[in-house]
Amino acid sequence: MRAIVVTDPAAGTSGMTLTERPEPSPAINDVVVRVHASGFVRDELEWPSTWVDRAGRDKVPSIPGHEVAGVVTALGYGTTGLSVGQRVFGLADWHRDGGLAEYVAVEARNLAPLPDDVDFTVAASLPISGLTAWQGLFQHGHLGSGQRVLVHGAAGALGALVTQLAREAGAQVIGTGRAADREKALDLGAHEFVDLDHDALTDVGAVDLVFDTIGGDVQTASAALVKPGGTLVSVVGPVEARLDDATAVDFVVEADRAQLGEIVQRVRDGRLRTNIGTIATLDDAVAALSSTERRKGKTIIAVAPTETA
Ligand SMILES: NC(=O)c1ccc[n+]([C@@H]2O[C@H](COP(=O)([O-])OP(=O)(O)OC[C@H]3O[C@@H](n4cnc5c(N)ncnc54)[C@H](OP(=O)(O)O)[C@@H]3O)[C@@H](O)[C@H]2O)c1
Repeated sequence: MRAIVVTDPAAGTSGMTLTERPEPSPAINDVVVRVHASGFVRDELEWPSTWVDRAGRDKVPSIPGHEVAGVVTALGYGTTGLSVGQRVFGLADWHRDGGLAEYVAVEARNLAPLPDDVDFTVAASLPISGLTAWQGLFQHGHLGSGQRVLVHGAAGALGALVTQLAREAGAQVIGTGRAADREKALDLGAHEFVDLDHDALTDVGAVDLVFDTIGGDVQTASAALVKPGGTLVSVVGPVEARLDDATAVDFVVEADRAQLGEIVQRVRDGRLRTNIGTIATLDDAVAALSSTERRKGKTIIAVAPTETA
């Protein structure tokens, strides 16, 4: 099969190549998915899981891209819940080969059925951003209606979904980012916008929840804004700032079929817009993923040329 591989942790996206790899076989409780579209997170090549398996053994050449949408072509021993020919989307295991390939093997429980009226490209943009937003806001952040939430990087791939889900949940949403992101963040549902290059974060006042997608000094400054009993949720590593009477959580997104169902239903009924900046073919994937232009959302690779199963 054709696949994008990486072999050199130091090379970044410029080390990506399109090559031939063996098709994966399904292990116990797996399905094999004919990939129609897949997503890639910019930092993936810095994560140890791109380079080693769960036992810490070298796994290069490694296929990145852990958000997948496609059609099931084979079931592993004992697999239930999904069937051959079914449209699916979800999160491929970080430590296994990913979805920038024509086929990927994934544990069935990490995938959800994909309704016929949702394009594969849209579906491939949802698993990481959608699940991370959902889990950060509701599982870890315990966001409630009427609470104030500060969403960093509100117009980014992840922040766009955090902003919309927080607004839908009845929160008062303060988005942040660059000056150029203001209109997009407000359009996505933020009530206010803070330009981190020019405005003072201290002017935001106290918040119940910080959803941090940036880290560093932005996170440190945000920690002081969390109300007693509130939470700072980080998706960019451990929280180093001290919080008084507040909780700090850092987490890595997990697959969850029920949450994927909630997310895709919101896309279908128009409550949630995905944030795709670029769609490229597998042939153009290396150029698209290694582009140094400023991204305006996720880059999705359309692996198979048609939308039909
Ligand atoms: N832990 C997890 O499970 C998990 C899951 C998903 C994502 N993540 C992480 O979350 C982060 C965001 O991911 P993403 O896909 O949303 O990236 P993205 O699309 O690049 O969005 C980040 C947004 O924040 C803005 N931003 C970054 N630094 C800024 C600063 N200092 N001042 C103002 N704006 C700033 C970016 O603007 P510029 O492009 O102009 O910098 C961009 O609009 C990444 O580090 C990713 O690895 C973690």
